[in-house]
Amino acid sequence: MKVTAAITAVGKYLPPDVLSNADFEKLFDTTDEWIKTRTGISERRILKDPTKATSFMMAEAARRVLEQRKINASEIDVIIACTVTPDMMFPATACLVQNEIGAKNAFGFDLSAACSGFLFGLSTGAQFIEAGRYKKVLVIGGDKMSAIIDYTDRTTSILFGDGAGAVLLEPTTDGTGVLDHILHTDGSGKDFLYQKGGGSLHPASVETVNAKWHNIYQDGKTVFKSAVTGMADVSAAIMEKNGLTSDDIAYLIPHQANLRIIDATANRMGIDSNKVIINIGMYGNTTAATIPLALADAIEQKRIKRGDNLIFAAFGAGYTWGAAWVKWGYNT
Ligand code: UT7
Repeated sequence: MKVTAAITAVGKYLPPDVLSNADFEKLFDTTDEWIKTRTGISERRILKDPTKATSFMMAEAARRVLEQRKINASEIDVIIACTVTPDMMFPATACLVQNEIGAKNAFGFDLSAACSGFLFGLSTGAQFIEAGRYKKVLVIGGDKMSAIIDYTDRTTSILFGDGAGAVLLEPTTDGTGVLDHILHTDGSGKDFLYQKGGGSLHPASVETVNAKWHNIYQDGKTVFKSAVTGMADVSAAIMEKNGLTSDDIAYLIPHQANLRIIDATANRMGIDSNKVIINIGMYGNTTAATIPLALADAIEQKRIKRGDNLIFAAFGAGYTWGAAWVKWGYNT
């Protein structure tokens, strides 16, 4: 029987400090009401400790996976760290996580696909398992967005928070696991969501700092329109490709960028809102962490059972977007 990659454990980490809509009301001209109605967000978590960064949150999420699965870090074969806020340009954040958790037999690398990072990492990790080369792959999505936010930009700063979520992939032949994925890139989206400075084109200088090129820039309206179309289209496409109807889907677990984008995707798939996992209200957009965080929350709430068909869907900078079909392997 065909070998697929089952998700056998899920872990999350959220920093303790809360940044609420009321806090933004003190920073610039905005209201709790505007933020809630335009985005669905009430508060986000922020990693305030300046000595800690993305690798810390990823390692915490990974430790929870190891505890849950009752395995030692030395059993991990591969670590895929999905992030656009690495601790440093290099070495890869995956190396820092590997060292921090003591995964001495693992190799690791970073994967940069912004808000679609976890989805791209999940697909990559699943293929390592399907190929039969590796038995335990950690896929971690994490971002410390607060490190690159311009807190004077009222349109973008209100959207993002910090966090990390991790899953363990292991081989199974019982028909569950990551059963399909569709991924897309369209680099013509590069002008609408980016962090311009700090790379080899615009290395850090007084000019790049003064121009705020080390902060995230987003043309919200343009990205919003592309995200609605992209996420809805790819979610419908993965259902159609696999002959799945809305009745077959137990839950949509979407990237949490804006509640209105999530609603549009669910509408297009023809699924009720009670079948959509939504936690954007508490965490905002944590970029690569949103899907594993939403999955972890659904598991904590014991909403998912063996055999459930889950659709993961995301859209982000690049542009990058995609969807995955996961048949769940255990009762939560
Ligand atoms: O995860 C990666 C992908 N990212 C996304 O999918 C996010 C995409 N974008 C969005 O979520 C939305 O576009 C935003 C939430 C960023 C903005 O919502 P919008 O409905 O597109 O608003 P808008 O940009 O068209 O702005 C409407 C008005 C503007 O005022 P005027 O020009 O009409 O006078 C803005 O200046 O709202 C104003 N505005 C605000 N007002 C109060 C923008 N930000 C704020 C704010 N508080 N924080």
